[in-house]
Amino acid sequence: MIALGSDHGGYNLKETIKAYLEENNIPCKDFGTNSTESVDYPEFGAKVAEAVVSKECEKGIICCGTGIGISISANKVPGIRCAVVSDTFSAQMSREHNNANILALGERVIGKGLALEIVKVWLSTEFAGDRHQRRIDKITDIEKKYNR
Ligand code: RB5
Repeated sequence: MIALGSDHGGYNLKETIKAYLEENNIPCKDFGTNSTESVDYPEFGAKVAEAVVSKECEKGIICCGTGIGISISANKVPGIRCAVVSDTFSAQMSREHNNANILALGERVIGKGLALEIVKVWLSTEFAGDRHQRRIDKITDIEKKYNR
């Protein structure tokens, strides 16, 4: 199950991604927003992040105008590794090396075609493990240090 979320600036891209997932029988759950009316991106970043850390959803895809604000918000939730991505190579690496569990995209940065290519690559790339797991463990150590 893929958790989806956006603010108003990423709403149209979220809807495009949702349509793609549904057409390809990839289960998803939409955490809003539900229109282009102005809202605050941290609420939606947090909802998707909480769905992923609770394991209600396996991964998340979030959108705002740039992908930046909503990704910063999601990354405040311990256990989240959210990557803002604007190219397919970074999409692949964010999974292979960083085991990113949320993908953030900027509707005002990239077009729909590229966004869907990024989604395809990101969803189909596995984490490589090995030395990369050691580095992720060190990220978790940083979280533990500051989340007492
Ligand atoms: C909303 O205007 C915009 O600031 C938001 O979508 C996002 O780009 C923030 O990082």
